[in-house]
Amino acid sequence: MTGPRVHLETFGCQMNELDSELVAGALGALGYRFVRDAGEADVILYNTCSVRERAEQKVWSRLGMLKETKAQRPDLVVGVLGCMAERDGATLMDRHPVVDVMCGPAELDKLPALIDNAVRTRRSMLDTDPAHAAGRSARSVALQGSASRRSSTLGAIGDSLEMLDLSRAISPIDANARKSAYVRITRGCNKFCTYCVVPHTRGAEVHRPPDHIVDECKRLADAGVIEVTLLGQTVNHYRFEHGSAVTIDGVVQPQKGRTYKGSHHRDAFAGAQTTTFADLLARIHDEVPAIERLRFVTSYPRDFGDDVLEVIRDHPRLCRYLHVPAQSGSDRMLKLMNRGYTVGEYYEFLDRARAILDQPEIGRPLMISGDVIVGFCTETDEDFELTKQMLIRSRSKNQFIFKYSPRPGTHAYDKIADDVPESVKRARNNELLALQSTISDEIAREQIGSTFGVLVEGLSRAEKKKRGIDVKPGTGMVDITIGGRSSAFGGSQGAPSVSGGPTTTALQPVAHAQGSSVQLSGRTDTDLIVHFEVPTAGGRAPDDWIGCIVPVRITEATGLSLFGETV
Ligand code: SAH
Ligand code: SF4
Ligand code: F3S
Repeated sequence: MTGPRVHLETFGCQMNELDSELVAGALGALGYRFVRDAGEADVILYNTCSVRERAEQKVWSRLGMLKETKAQRPDLVVGVLGCMAERDGATLMDRHPVVDVMCGPAELDKLPALIDNAVRTRRSMLDTDPAHAAGRSARSVALQGSASRRSSTLGAIGDSLEMLDLSRAISPIDANARKSAYVRITRGCNKFCTYCVVPHTRGAEVHRPPDHIVDECKRLADAGVIEVTLLGQTVNHYRFEHGSAVTIDGVVQPQKGRTYKGSHHRDAFAGAQTTTFADLLARIHDEVPAIERLRFVTSYPRDFGDDVLEVIRDHPRLCRYLHVPAQSGSDRMLKLMNRGYTVGEYYEFLDRARAILDQPEIGRPLMISGDVIVGFCTETDEDFELTKQMLIRSRSKNQFIFKYSPRPGTHAYDKIADDVPESVKRARNNELLALQSTISDEIAREQIGSTFGVLVEGLSRAEKKKRGIDVKPGTGMVDITIGGRSSAFGGSQGAPSVSGGPTTTALQPVAHAQGSSVQLSGRTDTDLIVHFEVPTAGGRAPDDWIGCIVPVRITEATGLSLFGETV
């Protein structure tokens, strides 16, 4: 018997991409099959993002279009997963009866049961009241509820969400294609930046046990993965306190996973042992040598001890790339955002990181990237000037720049007026883009003549266009996603030529390529995008380059696009 056909589309951050992959694995194990074309699906799932209004609008428009589809196919089951489900709550179904399933990001372990329930409910609705079934929701809901933030204590058996990560389906069939993977180390966030919806949608910060993380990395490496990106909202805040261990089914389980407000807090209880972020990086590096690149996002400026920077310096397979958003260059704004650091402290961190890690003379430069919000409540021209200075002083390879978008449920939405006009936000956004673009250009040009290992992701964007292949990112077929995006999605970047991250076409077979050469793209360990040509005749088939780390000498550079030749 074949199971229902599912179309799963993913919006938002890397955390969501990973969630989609885990959900797809769990449903796949139950016999569900995945289809690219929503028109062929019995179940349509949107894994959604709430971080800015624009992210939500995309999903509203999808749901709007489904109204018609459902009128024709009332047996269709539609699910809204992820942050938008959590933020909107079950009232979303009242406004959009097309939605049958709602599942927050902290409840995804329950999704198979919810879908099963919705499929059965729809069938009985069709049996009892076929005329009205299309206009009514099956109401299959699992939300954490914003009031009840999940406890930060990870009772290992009790936490079924942990089981979702643990039961990750790592299919050896993917092994030839999948060379790059995400691994979650921390869920949720406790920072409560005043503009941000994430602590409300993802819940309290919970750190995963290091043994689980290392094991997952080992299993991925065994399946052929050579690049792992560790995920957390404030990834460098990772800290795991081991209690006296108990054994469940032969696996050593910690009793407590605890979180701390201060980054250097030490616990006094007897027998306690701590795994810091630095310890975790060193463990993965040393215990899983098949992982040739280990990186992590997103870092929080305040939590970087020298211990982490030194571990990166001393472990060759740890990437010298840090995504550390400053958000603003104005102390007044940073305070209003509740970021917990001053711009001086941010600079102190950058100087320290560069002093410890930047070694361009041996071909190991440190690359920094960040995020900025323009037009946050009360931002003046003076505040904005300070942000421009921050970009100049930071000299990052790229910045994701966002116009402030008030999010219901956040402190800023409730308490601080969104008083910067849209036109001013837009003008500041454009000004920062132009400024960052010149900085990115300069940094790109500095790379000419250097040789870097490039992990090949697939055909370059230009090559895909030439061949008429769709280059739109993120159509949701998570099973063939390759490559880690360096940061947040959907923002405008300093260098417009940057490729849009993992795409469904990244692994398009290229063996049929015509002409004497084909242009491939990949990334350096410092997350620079490199394009280079390989011959199609004789030697290696273009497909065989994908997933390999190839030495490429940089010959040309514009913005974030570097061009080079294999050496
Ligand atoms: N945990 C990460 C950020 C996750 S959200 C960190 O603290 O750096 C990704 C980015 O979206 C943020 O860095 C911020 O720049 C942007 N962002 C978050 N909320 C926003 C809002 N309400 N309006 C505009 N941009 C926002
Ligand atoms: Fe949001 Fe701040 Fe947490 Fe990042 S650190 S997810 S911006 S609350
Ligand atoms: Fe969006 Fe949720 Fe990620 S709001 S940014 S999908 S954590």
